[in-house]
Amino acid sequence: MTHRKREAARPLRNPFEYGRELGRDELVDRKDELRQVVRSLENMGKLFLIGPRRYGKTSLLAAAASVAADSGTTVLRYDAERYESLDLLAAALLSGATRFLASTTERAGALLARVAGALRPEIAYDIKDQSVRVSLGAAKDAAENALPVLVDVLDAIERMAEATERPVVVILDEFQHIIKQGGETAERQIRAAVQTHRHVGYVFAGSATRMLADMTSDPGRAFYKLGARLFLGLIPRDEFTVFLRGGFEQAGFTVDAAALVRILELAHDVPYSVQRLAHECWEGLRVDASEATAGDAPQLTVDHVERALVRMLQQEDAAYTQIWNSLKLQQKRALKAAIVEDGRALLSSDVSRRHRVPTGSMQKALAALDERGIVREESVAGAVRYVLEDPLLGRWLRWSQQLAAP
Ligand SMILES: Nc1ncnc2c1ncn2[C@@H]1O[C@H](COP(=O)(O)OP(=O)(O)O)[C@@H](O)[C@H]1O
Ligand SMILES: [Mg+2]
Repeated sequence: MTHRKREAARPLRNPFEYGRELGRDELVDRKDELRQVVRSLENMGKLFLIGPRRYGKTSLLAAAASVAADSGTTVLRYDAERYESLDLLAAALLSGATRFLASTTERAGALLARVAGALRPEIAYDIKDQSVRVSLGAAKDAAENALPVLVDVLDAIERMAEATERPVVVILDEFQHIIKQGGETAERQIRAAVQTHRHVGYVFAGSATRMLADMTSDPGRAFYKLGARLFLGLIPRDEFTVFLRGGFEQAGFTVDAAALVRILELAHDVPYSVQRLAHECWEGLRVDASEATAGDAPQLTVDHVERALVRMLQQEDAAYTQIWNSLKLQQKRALKAAIVEDGRALLSSDVSRRHRVPTGSMQKALAALDERGIVREESVAGAVRYVLEDPLLGRWLRWSQQLAAP
């Protein structure tokens, strides 16, 4: 009559995390990449880290930054996308540098006067953060064109590093955002400044694979050969599989190997999406566990993964619907075409006819979807393919609109 509930001697915490930046002990694989980034930081080098969204750039940078900080390097890591203007980013960088390199407000004042006087810095002590905050008088005058301010701040940080004899590295995440805002002038001016810096190392990281790749590989562009390039790819399947299996088994679940393959397939191996789906599977197994009689450990099966996928799509329904509704008609058709055609030959007349989008409009729509970070162009063996940045969005569209499977 009374089923004995399995009581939780197992940890409650879901081991699969998505969305936040991971700590250095949480990364699957990435050992070589981590070593490369850390070496570059230690050498005060200049490195471009290039990879699609959600592949783990920010997590890798966080890990590298924490290794470098442990060995006494001052790490200034900023995400360019978080600031609505370049002068706010510039002020944040200078505040960060000042906080690290000057221990008191008086010293900060003296240091800033020496290395950044022209920027007319104003120092405030922020009681809440208990730290120094710098705002820039110069930026207020330069509202329209804040780029020189950013460049001046980078120069000031170089002088600070020299004056304080401390190793400093600047890590700019979502770097393409700066170039998008500042254009070609930005590229040229930043390059001109950065290439003379000897006391500051740089990592420029970005998601716009194509744009950053072009910026750094085209001899006509300013960043050509400014630094080394590291392309972040997918996490090898066997490493991810070991990690996934471990997460489930540690909680006392058993695992059918085919189920792990299914998770990786559905998520197209994209680290974020893999973790998202694995997270949902794990939650499902916990519910099963609480309802099962003692003795039979719940098992992760392919069927379980499929059900977890549907639950996840239901949870994300509102968010995905919002993205979908924000698209123009041709963009919707182009997105569907990308899913149904597996991203191939989208500019052919066949596909154009099947999906009722003229080739020219298809091209425009795909460019708009690319710009929005929804699809991305990938060249495989000379052929162009459009892939969804979030493979689970493709699953959602199939699920909600009953699209034919390819
Ligand atoms: N090395 C990794 N191992 C396991 N999961 C990862 C790894 N890198 C990224 N992820 C997953 O992807 C998510 C997004 O990572 P993030 O570093 O923010 O990517 P990006 O900056 O490239 O968009 C993380 O929250 C995590 O779920
Ligand atoms: Mg990121």
